Amino acid sequence: MRLDGKTALVTGAARGIGAAVARVFAAEGARVALTDVLSGPGQQVREAISTAGGTASFAEPDVTSEPDWRRVIDEVLDRFGGLDILVNNAGIYERNTVEDLDLETWNHVMEVNAASVFLGTKACIPVMRRSGGGSIINIASVASMRGSQWSTAYHASKGAVAVFTRSAAVQYGRYGIRVNSVHPGAIDTDMLDQVYLDDDLRRQRIEAMPMRRSGSPEEVAKAVLFLASDDSSYVTGAELRVDGGALA
Ligand SMILES: NC(=O)c1ccc[n+]([C@@H]2O[C@H](COP(=O)([O-])OP(=O)(O)OC[C@H]3O[C@@H](n4cnc5c(N)ncnc54)[C@H](O)[C@@H]3O)[C@@H](O)[C@H]2O)c1
Repeated sequence: MRLDGKTALVTGAARGIGAAVARVFAAEGARVALTDVLSGPGQQVREAISTAGGTASFAEPDVTSEPDWRRVIDEVLDRFGGLDILVNNAGIYERNTVEDLDLETWNHVMEVNAASVFLGTKACIPVMRRSGGGSIINIASVASMRGSQWSTAYHASKGAVAVFTRSAAVQYGRYGIRVNSVHPGAIDTDMLDQVYLDDDLRRQRIEAMPMRRSGSPEEVAKAVLFLASDDSSYVTGAELRVDGGALA
């Protein structure tokens, strides 16, 4: 199995892409620490992994809280003895033009989508340095690579994640810590229902895509698995699009 003996922490693991990453990692032999603010769904994903024979824990830190990050990492170290993989996946969507967007919303989106990635990375690096390396995967978006008619703060926050990822890769490559970003396109989750407000918009957008379909959370999870595993041992600072060719 590709993640045998490794421990992974996945944020936003109660549903969508994060839950798929947690399931795929566990099936590949990793011990998985799931975190999310959604307690019920998070516990259900943990139970499903355990029932399938995997090893998983669940905790409820808010990714925007530095004390929560310290606490959850201490818990992971106590329980599993190390931390090899971090997937910064938790995120929120927002829909506003520049003029409609207020500073409070801008700050909130930047905090949940971008500051969380900084805090998680900062909290994990000392642990990974001590153990001789690790892999950090930040879930950005194709939104980091282009603008749109709406979702101003969302695009800006994902752009921040992408460039932060490169800086972390440059700074910590010498310690065996690889840091990469994954850029999903339209993936069938609760978040996509917020992006495509109605069926007509969804149909138009999807028909304009090279593969004429949206992606599944599992298809993103398999790309994340590649970056988490030793199969990508010389890949760092990379931006991997999983968008069915949408940006091609
Ligand atoms: N679905 C898509 O089409 C798509 C496309 C590009 C990028 N993404 C990115 O993928 C990631 C996962 O998105 P998804 O589609 O699975 O969305 P989702 O809404 O289904 O899942 C996001 C998860 O993050 C959790 N979360 C939100 N705020 C949190 C906080 N403060 N602390 C802890 N957990 C928090 C939510 O509770 C939820 O379980 C996000 O970063 C999103 O921006 C999604």
